[in-house]
Amino acid sequence: MKKIFLLLLMILTVSGCGGEEKAPVEPEKKSVEQTPAPTDKKILVVYFSRTGEEYSIGNITKGNTAIVAEMIAAKTGADTFEIKPAVAYPDAYEPCTEIAKKELESNARPALEKNIDNLAQYDTVFIGFPIWWGALPRVMMTFLEANDFSGKTIVPFCTHGGSGLAGTVREIKDACPNAKVLDGLAIVGKTAQNDSAAAEMEVDAWLSGLGY
Ligand SMILES: Cc1cc2nc3c(=O)[nH]c(=O)nc-3n(C[C@H](O)[C@H](O)[C@H](O)COP(=O)(O)O)c2cc1C
Repeated sequence: MKKIFLLLLMILTVSGCGGEEKAPVEPEKKSVEQTPAPTDKKILVVYFSRTGEEYSIGNITKGNTAIVAEMIAAKTGADTFEIKPAVAYPDAYEPCTEIAKKELESNARPALEKNIDNLAQYDTVFIGFPIWWGALPRVMMTFLEANDFSGKTIVPFCTHGGSGLAGTVREIKDACPNAKVLDGLAIVGKTAQNDSAAAEMEVDAWLSGLGY
């Protein structure tokens, strides 16, 4: 009889029918600290672009490169910075080409109206410019040399009248030896100005090839 009583008591204890509610078990607290999420990579689109009388287009109020720069910024969520020379180039096309040619021949460094003050926070910098005499406008050289691009990724893009990027990617690599310089995009200025749908398709295809 005693044995049967003990057996019943064991069964009741094991099956939890003793009337006592078990407290919910708290999940084990992990003592390992969480790895902080990587900070979001900040992107900048910096560009130089001229308005006024433009090659094979006529008078423009927004520069061709500025149009492409805005497309890239809108699609990547980038900030923008416009490079302006301290002394603006003439609106008239021919006088502008003459000044630009002299600047290229003398390898001038035209002063900037102002430099960027927060470049350090950006990891990737899209750099846009028009092709001038098959080269970077010299004011772009001023900008590249006035800033430290070490460790950054530079993504060049240009607008042009037929030359494509010419030797400009090489110029950027030479001016920023400690940056990673990717392949650039070249868009015909007239397309950017007058056919934004076509320009946008080129920008989209290029950006998606870069992983954006
Ligand atoms: C001073 C000057 C020089 C130029 N030289 C070239 C050139 O060598 N090759 C070319 O394809 N286009 C040349 N162009 C045309 C511009 O690259 C083209 O119109 C560009 O889209 C202008 O861009 P923006 O409106 O952003 O300044 C030149 C334009 C100017 C004003």
